[in-house]
Amino acid sequence: MSRLVVVSNRVALPDQPMSGGLAVALRAALEETGGLWFGWSGKIHPKESGHVHEQQDGNIEYVTLDLSRQDHADYYNGFANRTLWPLLHFRVDLVDYSRETYDAYRRVNALFADKLAPLLRDDDIVWIHDYHLIPLARLLRERGVRCKLGFFLHVPMPSSDLLAALPHHARLFEGLSSHDLIGFQTERDLERFQDYVRLFGRGRVISDGVLETSGGHRLHAGAFPISIDTARIAEQAAAAADQSSVIKLALSIPRGSLAIGVDRLDYSKGLPERFKAFECYLKQYPEQRDRLTFLQIAPVSRGGVPEYQALRNELEQLAGHINGGYAHPDWTPMRYVNQNYPHSTLTGFYRLAQVGVVTPLRDGMNLVAKEFVASQDEDNPGVLVLSSFAGAARELDGALQVNPYDLDGVAAALAQAIEMPLGERQERWEGMMKRLREFDITAWRRSYLEALRAV
Ligand code: G6P
Repeated sequence: MSRLVVVSNRVALPDQPMSGGLAVALRAALEETGGLWFGWSGKIHPKESGHVHEQQDGNIEYVTLDLSRQDHADYYNGFANRTLWPLLHFRVDLVDYSRETYDAYRRVNALFADKLAPLLRDDDIVWIHDYHLIPLARLLRERGVRCKLGFFLHVPMPSSDLLAALPHHARLFEGLSSHDLIGFQTERDLERFQDYVRLFGRGRVISDGVLETSGGHRLHAGAFPISIDTARIAEQAAAAADQSSVIKLALSIPRGSLAIGVDRLDYSKGLPERFKAFECYLKQYPEQRDRLTFLQIAPVSRGGVPEYQALRNELEQLAGHINGGYAHPDWTPMRYVNQNYPHSTLTGFYRLAQVGVVTPLRDGMNLVAKEFVASQDEDNPGVLVLSSFAGAARELDGALQVNPYDLDGVAAALAQAIEMPLGERQERWEGMMKRLREFDITAWRRSYLEALRAV
């Protein structure tokens, strides 16, 4: 059996808190098969990039690299998170482009290629993840790597006109054609990519799943919706009821209901809109007031990027404004927490909540939505309020689907969720849970890797 080599910028090193769907999903996928996980160490080196760390944990070998302060600023904070991230989330207004950060992005990808190429064997299966590493496959091929190379994009693929706004987009996206298989989260993402190839690429779309580059190289592209370890999360959530932080949260809500949101503090997650929608709800449903407490957990993310700092200030103001307007001495409608919690504790929180609020403006998939569903108690499941702009909306059709820009619509969904009778909650939940049991993280990994092997 060939060795699996996973490459991603973010690596979930043992004993480190995981934040973000990629780390959670890849750890779950690699734990099953074992293999090598290669990427950034998460550390900044005082002098230069490239210092290597090696570590073994169970069946996973980790090889990670430090980044210099400059590369961290220009590659990670810069081109990856101030240029590509907003572009891929349809936020051209936030795109900040400079040749300097683009050069750093190519330089760090070349460094990854230099360090990874000598570790690879011809029968390895290499699976590269996400927008940080778009040029990597081409750079590996240039260094003589011959094994199968696959790519998976965790974030959305926007429409081709938006992609074309990026200077040098053709040079960047052409690099993807050095893979054997490109995976997207949804059919819509795949369609938009094929559109881009048709309109702006030098290659052509031969059939639904096959593309041909101008040089005649054929590669495959498909939709592989990422998922969760459904059975393990269900077990974890039930067991978490005994954890002290879960017990304390339950005791702090002696009457009424809990709504929960858990997101990295990121503008793609629609948090200001969500806070405002909650305020609308408090205003428009006074009879339900005092009955619902909204807990938003939002660990700080990419704190070195100015747009994220501005968002943090905005959310602090909004939370203060809502509590100032509606709290009583003995009840606070909103709890806003920046701390990160262990994954198992979060599943316990999800199980306590009557409503899960997942309302991104754009999201590749959103695994919190899936984890919320998997964490519920089958005898008394909560209700998921889900943005139709999350990739997960395709599969989670038992959720109350909302347009996150429609504040009144989100407020109405919260009210509907609180009033929903048990029978309807169970029916909606069972349909979603059936899907998640069938298409779990193992099914995702297998379907992708089987497709890559078959190319
Ligand atoms: C998203 C991206 C991942 C990223 C994660 C956390 O899920 O698709 O590539 O790892 O956010 O962001 P961070 O910048 O902390 O790695």
